[in-house]
Amino acid sequence: MKKVYVGMSADLIHHGHLNIIKKARQLGEVVIGLLTDKAIAGYKRLPHLSFEQRKIIVENLKGVSSVIAQEELDYVPNLKKLKPDLVVHGDDWKTGVQKETRQRVIDALKEWGGELVEIPYTKGISSTYLNAKMKEIGTTPEIRMKKFKRLLNVRPIVRVLEAHSGLSGLIIENIKTVKDNISVEFDCMWVSSLTDSITRGKPDIECVDLTSRLSTVNDILEVTTKPIIFDADTGGIAEHFVFKVKTLERLGVSAVIIEDKIGLKKNSLFGTDVVQAQDTIENFSYKISQGKKALVTDDFMIIARIESLILNKGMEDALQRAEAYIKAGADGIMIHSNKKDPGEIIEFCRRFKLFDVRVPLVVVPTTFCKITEKELIDAGIRIVVYANHLLRSAYPAMVKTATSILENSRCYEASKLCTPVKDIITLIPGSS
Ligand code: SPV
Ligand code: MG
Repeated sequence: MKKVYVGMSADLIHHGHLNIIKKARQLGEVVIGLLTDKAIAGYKRLPHLSFEQRKIIVENLKGVSSVIAQEELDYVPNLKKLKPDLVVHGDDWKTGVQKETRQRVIDALKEWGGELVEIPYTKGISSTYLNAKMKEIGTTPEIRMKKFKRLLNVRPIVRVLEAHSGLSGLIIENIKTVKDNISVEFDCMWVSSLTDSITRGKPDIECVDLTSRLSTVNDILEVTTKPIIFDADTGGIAEHFVFKVKTLERLGVSAVIIEDKIGLKKNSLFGTDVVQAQDTIENFSYKISQGKKALVTDDFMIIARIESLILNKGMEDALQRAEAYIKAGADGIMIHSNKKDPGEIIEFCRRFKLFDVRVPLVVVPTTFCKITEKELIDAGIRIVVYANHLLRSAYPAMVKTATSILENSRCYEASKLCTPVKDIITLIPGSS
């Protein structure tokens, strides 16, 4: 009996997969190399089902003899171990992101006289199509909430972009690009206090009440499936913070970030140009611990944001607070800076690596924006938040259009700055 290797993600199983397994079975004994969550997330989106769930399904498919983990998109490590006679795959990987993977399979098989057998791609069905349908159906609070920790487990860095409305949420949900043969996208949304306030024409001073903030969250929840991190400013007093935590957790938000300031909060990017006070370590640690006690699940994260560098309190203060907040139960630390140079952030990360107990580190590189994701990963950062860029880019576009109408006393010139009417009226599915 020949040994036949079939690599697959098997996230959304359809008859195309079954056809490949059936054909592979006709050629010999079928070993499925099931891609791990990390392997899949390394070149495209996080799978809907976990590795364990997918394994149970595939093990029980007719024609499958065994299932092993394929830890990378690259088949070669598994092929070298198993030395199969045949590898069976759909012929759709001849082009696109898997082209190189295919060539490596052909080259590896040559070493022991193995062969690649390609089965014609089943028309009319694809994981891409099913994934789009899944997005239309939506998600549940629990699945969405858990997705954030799953992403933390498989991504070298979790990429987060600011959303302030259903539409900006949809952009984050759907925008994708292919870079170095890898499909890249945003993992998560940041409901920023700055952009949520500015969208309402209000200053970022914690004056937009929770009900209004939650209405933004609800608009985003309604039309997206990606996880959300909520910027809760200072979180308010501990006795109020616990209710915020419960509400956000119930809605399926994945994490809340609270900053260690007290009194009238101003935006951090003002630095010391405005009067802002930092909370005591004791007070803020108490708030964190109360929030943790209020949680119902293990999935929701409370992330403590340290403002010591913003307020010129120094590196030692920042590190001391990080240690205390972790002790109080913080599930993550956000270290903020408003310097153009990332030096102090990198230094914090270097010292943080020496801690006995560590949690994921978050940064918001609004001012030190030249730093790349690769450099952040090397420094040990696990979550990067692009905190205001959709609103900041929309604003000058709107001002330009408004000015054009005034200058020309008509909208002809402005039309050229706009999305075509046909595109905007059909942008949202179900419009016609
Ligand atoms: C926000 O986006 O509201 C933030 C990040 O809190 S910052 O504006 O840098 O303070
Ligand atoms: Mg904020």
